[in-house]
Amino acid sequence: MEYGLIGGALGHSFSKVIHEQLADYTYELKPLNESEFHEYMEAKKFKGINVTIPYKEKVLPYLHDIDERAKRIGAVNTIVNRHGKLYGYNTDYDGFIYTLRQHKIDASNKKVIVLGSGGASKAIIAVLQDEHAKEIVVVNRTIREGVISYEDCFANHKDGDLIVNTTPVGMYPHVDASPIDLAAFEKCEAIVDIIYNPLQTKLLAQAESLEIANANGLEMLIGQAKCAVEYFSGTSLEDTVIGKIYEDMIRVG
Ligand code: ATR
Repeated sequence: MEYGLIGGALGHSFSKVIHEQLADYTYELKPLNESEFHEYMEAKKFKGINVTIPYKEKVLPYLHDIDERAKRIGAVNTIVNRHGKLYGYNTDYDGFIYTLRQHKIDASNKKVIVLGSGGASKAIIAVLQDEHAKEIVVVNRTIREGVISYEDCFANHKDGDLIVNTTPVGMYPHVDASPIDLAAFEKCEAIVDIIYNPLQTKLLAQAESLEIANANGLEMLIGQAKCAVEYFSGTSLEDTVIGKIYEDMIRVG
């Protein structure tokens, strides 16, 4: 394949539909197991690929050059093959910034609670740092360095101004699950859930009923794809294409 997405299970992916509206190529979905993944990266028979779970960090050793931002995040979701050399970028960062701007969510000087500490969380934390958040609290199911537990969050951080969910909790088919109860967070003024299937998770439905500004993950997904297409093609696209594709996708459902 020349262009496409590699990852573990890709059955849910909307990336083919999105890329084929943004660019003039066929975009393939290529699920790979671990050994296939290593063979694929060694063969380098592609022009441009996106990378998703669980390979965003595992691709790093195969790259000749990693963009500064992607290096800082520690994860790459976009790879361009230029004359046999692989260049890595992180466009989740751009997708998240787009979402904040689009919803006029200002993270500067805010206390932000980030649920989850995987690849997407790292890109989002980099954005929040660059937007001058006052404090970033990372909450995770598994305790490791730099994260706190959900219990600790409920006990000590109910004063969060913004909340970002980067976990898959609430994603199809487990739509009745929610990572936290927003009712406890009385200061919360905005919430972003990076899940896009369903568009309105249980968490966002609760935000809506509490009249808290909220954004789903579809704009971040389209925004990161738009930026990947720019790296693949070496040309830039207007941000307005993101909104057009978003409107089309929510109309079709
Ligand atoms: P992504 O690239 O989308 O960030 P990831 O790197 O697999 O995906 O990270 C998923 C995150 O969601 C992790 O923080 C994970 O928590 P663990 O470190 O404990 O695995 C979190 N996560 C996944 N399933 C979860 C669940 N059922 N409840 C709470 N957190 C969950």
